[in-house]
Amino acid sequence: MDEPRLKLAIQKSGRLTDPSLDLLTRCGLKISRGKDQLMAYGENMPLDVLFVRDDDIPDLVQEDVCDLGLVGLNVLEEKRLELAARGHPARFEQVRKLEFGRCRLSLAVPQGASFEGSSSLRGKRIATTYPFLLERYLRERDLHAEIVTLSGAVEIAPRLGRADLICDLVSTGSTLQANHLREVETVLESHAVLIRTPLALPPLKDEWVERLLMRIDGVQQVRESKYIMLHAPRAALAQIRKLLPGSETPTIIPLEGFPDKVAIHAVCRETVFWETLESLKKAGASAVLVLPVEKMLV
Ligand code: PRP
Ligand code: ZN
Repeated sequence: MDEPRLKLAIQKSGRLTDPSLDLLTRCGLKISRGKDQLMAYGENMPLDVLFVRDDDIPDLVQEDVCDLGLVGLNVLEEKRLELAARGHPARFEQVRKLEFGRCRLSLAVPQGASFEGSSSLRGKRIATTYPFLLERYLRERDLHAEIVTLSGAVEIAPRLGRADLICDLVSTGSTLQANHLREVETVLESHAVLIRTPLALPPLKDEWVERLLMRIDGVQQVRESKYIMLHAPRAALAQIRKLLPGSETPTIIPLEGFPDKVAIHAVCRETVFWETLESLKKAGASAVLVLPVEKMLV
């Protein structure tokens, strides 16, 4: 019998596509994908990647077409609220927060329009493709405004006279700028997440989900991590250990022929700045080497 294969949905083309593929590659997945193909076959893992519209990803997991999905929290939360409004429980679970796809769902007004805090929203028409998140935002502040639900091109709604302001995703801010809009309030901070079906999977699939999660954790941990090696006077050991950013248990090695010196090797899990190296040197460190970490399994 064929081994059961996991199906993972990712965005077909958009801000999450490249970082999603990059993450999967770093997790060791090799896929073969023909041009314009909607599904790519995992050559070295029982995992296939489906390329779909990001808005469809929660539904695909909800409906058990896919076991896993990489999607923005914005899309996920909107879907959760929509399902709740229809009395349906969400059948997807967020299993990892990811470090890419950072953006925010924000309110923006035409440049030149006045805005004095959220009370300025009263009675206004707000265009959005996120009606449920916007509705929650307004309800929590006890504000009444008209939500104009659109399926796209939200940023031109004020110019067309369809709305007074908009509620849309902002990443670099260039779309707002190009449309003479000014960001005024944040409705939701977003980033990519990995979701899975809450249903029990057959053991072989489940095992691969666990392996993938462990590899994702490893990939995320090494992003900022550096391996530091240096020589330190024994007398300055305590001070130098304190200076090493995010390293709990450095390895201390005696140096042959130098009884008052040691070598320290440490994995630093936070960015190592030049300032840190300068402080280390001041504390007596010498022969300092900072190396990138390629893989980590803890
Ligand atoms: C969002 C949003 C804007 C743009 C903002 O669309 O609707 O058009 O991104 O990004 P910027 O601040 O970098 O200019 P998105 O790419 O999510 O497309 P989608 O809503 O069609 O999925
Ligand atoms: Zn979308």
